[in-house]
Amino acid sequence: MTVTIHDLRAWKTEGTRWAMLTAYDFPTAEILDGAGIPVLLVGDSVGRNALGYENELPVTMEEMLHHTRAVARGADRAMVVGDMPFMSFQVSVEEGVRNAGRFIKEGNAHAVKIEGAQYDLVHRLVDIGIPVMAHVGLTPQSVYGLGGYRVQGRGEAAAKVLDQAHALEKAGAFAMVLEAMPAELGAEITKAVQVPTIGIGAGSATDAQVLVINDLLGLSEKPPRFAKAYADLRSTIADAATAFARDVEAGAFPDGEHTYS
Ligand code: KIV
Repeated sequence: MTVTIHDLRAWKTEGTRWAMLTAYDFPTAEILDGAGIPVLLVGDSVGRNALGYENELPVTMEEMLHHTRAVARGADRAMVVGDMPFMSFQVSVEEGVRNAGRFIKEGNAHAVKIEGAQYDLVHRLVDIGIPVMAHVGLTPQSVYGLGGYRVQGRGEAAAKVLDQAHALEKAGAFAMVLEAMPAELGAEITKAVQVPTIGIGAGSATDAQVLVINDLLGLSEKPPRFAKAYADLRSTIADAATAFARDVEAGAFPDGEHTYS
């Protein structure tokens, strides 16, 4: 049985904390699902982490749908959330509705994530029956407008982020990502809203935490300060590749065990 928006709401009420991870492909989704991760986010961070783009901005709807379908194929129990990419919803509510619908119809996602203060769009999607995860604080699609990947909501700016969180909850968002903000603000928003908050660089008081899978696995060259690597796959992959190349060069691979007679 797939994790639903009701489960997430119940976990907040019970005080059960949970983890979300990004996933971009089928095998990773299968492993994370098997490990019991309840929500998989096909983030537009796929641009930097799987496609070699400098940032999230070039990522297209077609690329997002391609990766979302792969993740959905690997997820049995986990809720799959598709991240609406830059310029797939900013022009008009109509365009946002059409593209959100594509995530459900063509991407097999269970919900979409939308960055920023898109109250009308969130309201319309929830009305239609498409669950929306909101995202406030540092919104990477506005990296140029924000002047870089900077902590948001410091000092007087905290009130604006809190207002956005309230308005997005009112518009019907079922959860919200709080990215790169002081821990005190993360805690304040978590207390103020009834829906689960999912922190990334927002302190430890949020209802859930999310990490980018490449950061978790130690694959990122320059991970952000808030990310913790739980493995060192960069070295593991490099070591395995070097060992294979050495064996090939030495004529040690393939050996008898890996040869058909
Ligand atoms: O795209 C992404 O991976 C995200 C998470 C960092 C929340 O938006």
